[in-house]
Amino acid sequence: MSNVKLDYKNSGITDKEIMKYKEKVIKIHNEFNENANDENAFLGWLHLPTNYDKKEFERIKKAAKRINKTSEIFVVIGIGGSYLGARAVIQSLTNTFYNVLDKKKRKAPQILYAGNNMSSDYLQDLIDYIGDKEISINVISKSGTTTEPAIAFRIFREILETKYGIEEARKRIYVTTDKQKGALRKLAEEEGYETFVIPDNIGGRYSVLTAVGLLPIATAGIDIEKLMKGAAYAEDKYSDGNLKYNDCYKYAVIRNILYKLYKNTEILVNYEPKLHYFTEWWKQLFGESEGKDQLGIFPTGVDFTTDLHSMGQYIQQGRRNLFETVINVIEPKSDIIIKEDEDNIDGLNFLDGKTVSFVNKKAMEGTIEAHVEGDVPNILLNLDRLDEETIGHLIYFFEKACAMSGKILGVNPFDQPGVEAYKKKMFKLLGKPGY
Ligand code: PA5
Repeated sequence: MSNVKLDYKNSGITDKEIMKYKEKVIKIHNEFNENANDENAFLGWLHLPTNYDKKEFERIKKAAKRINKTSEIFVVIGIGGSYLGARAVIQSLTNTFYNVLDKKKRKAPQILYAGNNMSSDYLQDLIDYIGDKEISINVISKSGTTTEPAIAFRIFREILETKYGIEEARKRIYVTTDKQKGALRKLAEEEGYETFVIPDNIGGRYSVLTAVGLLPIATAGIDIEKLMKGAAYAEDKYSDGNLKYNDCYKYAVIRNILYKLYKNTEILVNYEPKLHYFTEWWKQLFGESEGKDQLGIFPTGVDFTTDLHSMGQYIQQGRRNLFETVINVIEPKSDIIIKEDEDNIDGLNFLDGKTVSFVNKKAMEGTIEAHVEGDVPNILLNLDRLDEETIGHLIYFFEKACAMSGKILGVNPFDQPGVEAYKKKMFKLLGKPGY
């Protein structure tokens, strides 16, 4: 099994300091286990990798095959926790140029996203691009009332009904929502759309391994069995309540110790552009879980080496409230050798015979050294490779670490009361009844 290993030797935090949290961690760990089946505890993600709805899982695989046969484009309509996980996994595990590859090479529909912003230009550009290509759509919303996906769905539903007629459109609309409640559930039942469930006890940002993420991920041709296998491996690996043997809890503790040392901004760093959306998913997970009661680490992210040329200066010498968590993918999928050049005008002959990934690794090692010397503590997560099992593992690692970290901080990591504030102001300005 592909692995994820935590290395905190450059964090400045010692085992002795970490182990001071032993009692606190075991108490929270026991609470998680005791409340795992409590519908109101939002802990449905805890045993999800082993305890998921197997029948629905099979339906997801069948739907993905059907979409593949009938559609050139699959539009995923959702926002926040209802789309970031799918986008993160798809980007991490498919060809960097997936959407522009020839269909024969891609072997699956193009995946495009809507309902994750309110831009009319974005929507119009998307509609223009789709033109008369064959499409299916998946609208994903737990509440069924979120404005961005609701508007996009209304527009796309009309496009599908006009293009295909009501009957055929019904076969191309997939709905992922609450099992009983909400406007989307009602509409789906009235129209007879195929539906998938977002379990009550799993919040949006913890939902990537439910149908929310799995249908788009499977449609992109990714092996969701392997993804769940990696997550199940992690479920077992991080089930030990003893902090000494649980790297996931150690990561949660180290973050909290650093936070107390005024390191209140965590930068998730990758050296693989494919992990860009994984960082976006991670930002939401930690930001929405911990940022409340005027507490919480601010989660942000960079893609290196790209952002070394934009954010590197600040990280090296700006305000010293930062720490970095670096995702290191040990084995790249492919590699390219840098060859000697007779003229050597670019002066690169010192790299003769070296590979691009070797240079990337040295960039990483050098950057870690420089940033640590510049008082930016470092946590390293070593991933064997980028594959389904590793990504499944990493998702579970971060979900559990986030829950533990939020609890240590003293906040509720499963609610998000703050996101309502802007909505109230916006609805008032829009004249929505009741605001
Ligand atoms: O994590 C969360 O709860 C949020 O990001 C939601 O996923 C997001 O607001 C979308 O909500 P809904 O699925 O109800 O449309």
